[in-house]
Amino acid sequence: MKRVDDFRLRLGKHELVPIMIGGMGVDISTADLALEAARLGGVGHISDAMINTVADRRYDTKHVKEKLAFYKYNVNNEDKSPVKFDLGRLEEATRLHVEATMARKTGSGLVFINCMEKLTMNAPKETLKVRLTAALDAGIEGITLAAGLHLGSFALIEDHPRFRDAKLGIIVSSVRALQLFLKKNQRTNRLPDFIVVEGPLAGGHLGFGMDWAQYDLAAIVAEVLTYLRAEQLDIPVIPAGGIFTGTDAAQFLDAGAGAVQVATRFTVAAECGLPDKVKQEYFKATEDDIEVNQISPTGYPMRMLKGSPGIGDGIRPNCEAYGYLLDASGKCSYIASYNREVAAHPGARKVKVMDKTCLCTHMRNFDIWTCGQLTWRLKDTTVRQADGSYHIPSAAHIFQDYQFSTEQQIALPALL
Ligand SMILES: Cc1cc2nc3c(=O)[nH]c(=O)nc-3n(C[C@H](O)[C@H](O)[C@H](O)COP(=O)(O)O)c2cc1C
Repeated sequence: MKRVDDFRLRLGKHELVPIMIGGMGVDISTADLALEAARLGGVGHISDAMINTVADRRYDTKHVKEKLAFYKYNVNNEDKSPVKFDLGRLEEATRLHVEATMARKTGSGLVFINCMEKLTMNAPKETLKVRLTAALDAGIEGITLAAGLHLGSFALIEDHPRFRDAKLGIIVSSVRALQLFLKKNQRTNRLPDFIVVEGPLAGGHLGFGMDWAQYDLAAIVAEVLTYLRAEQLDIPVIPAGGIFTGTDAAQFLDAGAGAVQVATRFTVAAECGLPDKVKQEYFKATEDDIEVNQISPTGYPMRMLKGSPGIGDGIRPNCEAYGYLLDASGKCSYIASYNREVAAHPGARKVKVMDKTCLCTHMRNFDIWTCGQLTWRLKDTTVRQADGSYHIPSAAHIFQDYQFSTEQQIALPALL
């Protein structure tokens, strides 16, 4: 029986342990987590989701406070179109995060950044261009284009000196999305270096409708591999979503995948950015506690724990401070839902908003507990302590469990 360590992912001159820890915003996949993957010879991701907020927390900038002060006059205004990001500050925040991360890197692995197109930031093209360019300037080794079709994303950076040397990949959930991406980016004469195929069991936003349960990761991966072979394209395919054990991973590698992308197992790692209290909620979750709903203003279904404090919360939209989901005309579907509830309950001190959530605020505060479908199995990956809480394993323990385990076994961490 083969194990993950019998395989290697080749990306240019790099030979890597074929384990990629997926990007998890907002700073859930921290620099510490990504750096552990790189130290151990795999690929880790940081994320640029709400990067100004992350910079404030990590690097002592005051971006959020300053933005809120600048747009304070607009807080009670339904029209958020004047609330723009300062591109200089966005550049600074991205650079700070990437530089600080890369400066600490050890090992033969790589550190990439996850960039979601759906963070439209009231100026989709301009802000995405700054995010991608700043990450390349600051020395990121690769970029994973996520949450969107990214039909114009290569073109935004085609003049960058590192456009052909940095590793650039795309996340797709169907062969059709991949075909579209390749067609639309063809003009830049550059293929992606890797293709993450994300199936319906993943955490975060899903590239499927509410009929997600009808899809199967292995079937989509097989279709993508067949298509690439027919086109004579030699690009590593990296399945993601529900790959819970080293054996699950080895099966995909044996079937022709270049690596696997995993995340849920690492949400409870010591290096993961979720607060310890939230990690315990992930451990405790049963299958019934997990749902896919449509409350994300991005329009994509999102998987989360039903007990997330952000569900139903009717907080006033915080676009003047955040505003990462404002579309090109300054709209976010949460604003419409919030205003509808306020109008329906005149005089109420607080309203409930069930159909959408203020994702910026709640992701910032770790109050939307997004998770993979197999989160309910996390309790079987650690030991319970005398006080009833679950031991929080190290990222290295989880990484090496994926790398070396066989026969569907999961090695439990040793208590000190
Ligand atoms: C807590 C959490 C947050 C996530 N956030 C993002 C994100 O910001 N961007 C993204 O492209 N994928 C995101 N994902 C998806 C993962 O990167 C990964 O592809 C997927 O979850 C892998 O499946 P698994 O969790 O079953 O291992 C997230 C997943 C989790 C569990």
